[in-house]
Amino acid sequence: MKTNAGILAVAMLVALSGPAAAESKLSLIGRAAPAVENLPNDEYGDLVRYGQQLSVRTFAHIGPEVQDTKMRFAGNNLACTSCHQENATKPYAMPWVGVSAVFPQYRAREDELSTVEERVNGCMQRSMAGRPLPLDSREMKAFVTYIHFLSRDVPVGARIEGAATRGSKPPNRRADLAAGESVYKAQCMACHGENGEGRRNGVPGDAQGYQFPPVWGPDSFNTGAGMNRILMAMRFIKHNMPQGVNHAAPVLSDDEAFDVAGFILSKPRPEKKNLEQDFPARWNKPIDAAFPPYVDGAPADQHKYGPFPPLAEKARAAAAAREETKKTRENRGQ
Ligand code: HEC
Ligand code: HEC
Repeated sequence: MKTNAGILAVAMLVALSGPAAAESKLSLIGRAAPAVENLPNDEYGDLVRYGQQLSVRTFAHIGPEVQDTKMRFAGNNLACTSCHQENATKPYAMPWVGVSAVFPQYRAREDELSTVEERVNGCMQRSMAGRPLPLDSREMKAFVTYIHFLSRDVPVGARIEGAATRGSKPPNRRADLAAGESVYKAQCMACHGENGEGRRNGVPGDAQGYQFPPVWGPDSFNTGAGMNRILMAMRFIKHNMPQGVNHAAPVLSDDEAFDVAGFILSKPRPEKKNLEQDFPARWNKPIDAAFPPYVDGAPADQHKYGPFPPLAEKARAAAAAREETKKTRENRGQ
């Protein structure tokens, strides 16, 4: 009892000690995901289970080959979990655990505050190369409810270790597409196919999706997708591919992940229209967003394939200059 009281006292002290304690942290590494199986058979449980189904078998419910043409919202036969692996719970594979706790959030791509629903529709129009789900549709409610369920016990505003993708350092050179092709042939082609076409579960038209999803070509993510940015793809691939890999034991080196990402993204895929409207604030456009306008004066090829360290340096300098201008204005009371 005495020890417990001591621990409690220390815990309270820590809790009271200034700004550091105000931010809660949570790690997804080794943390068990909430179990869908334990949910009761009520409205909430039903919607969570439907949300999980929609994520794992997206193609069978809202894909381009479903019978009911009104339900064809996705433009390709991927599943959300083609990227958001392990039912969207895998650390560093853009897990949804905690997403309800960090949205609404500012998003540079839209330069405004964005809700979970808008984020879901972001992936619908880009990763899934389709059209947005109506906000009042059962499908949108199911996605949001599944994400909400996965985010249980994550404090609002928490800093989450294992969120998004794990950082990695791009080499200071242009991606070597020939080297990337060799990596692809040795490490990826057995599953993703000679022409990046993947391997279907069944036959075209049957809405049964893929055993191994395509990584380029007409049934892949479009040019506006996050995965179409080489640094994003590099981070995802390095820590999640070949299938079975996780962040703790990557198989590819940074160089190999960078080159194979460049190789995949050099291939054709569906075009997203009006990309110039993305990142309207411009100054916060990611350096690997490979579509115009390019505000830093660097060539399009460099934004697509690198070398990135000089672009990162330019972006840092521009950010510092912005801060400086802001401070000067504040000092003048403007
Ligand atoms: C081709 C890969 C891919 C597919 C398929 C995909 N996404 Fe995403 N998704 C991403 C990437 C990449 C991000 C951005 C991660 C980042 O910003 O660091 C993301 C982010 C998200 C986020 C925000 C996560 C966060 O941590 O802020 C949500 C929610 C989301 N996607 C939902 C969906 C839904 C729902 C589907 C299916 C309808 C889907 N995604 C399909 C690649 C994909
Ligand atoms: C053993 C089979 C296998 C190998 C080898 C493999 N993958 Fe995958 N890959 C998958 C599967 C399966 C998925 C879907 C995610 C899941 O089910 O966990 C996937 C998903 C992906 C995705 C995101 C979804 C999409 O279709 O765009 C990318 C990108 C990708 N793999 C790239 C690679 C690269 C690059 C390599 C080689 C370094 C590779 N993969 C090797 C099986 C494989």
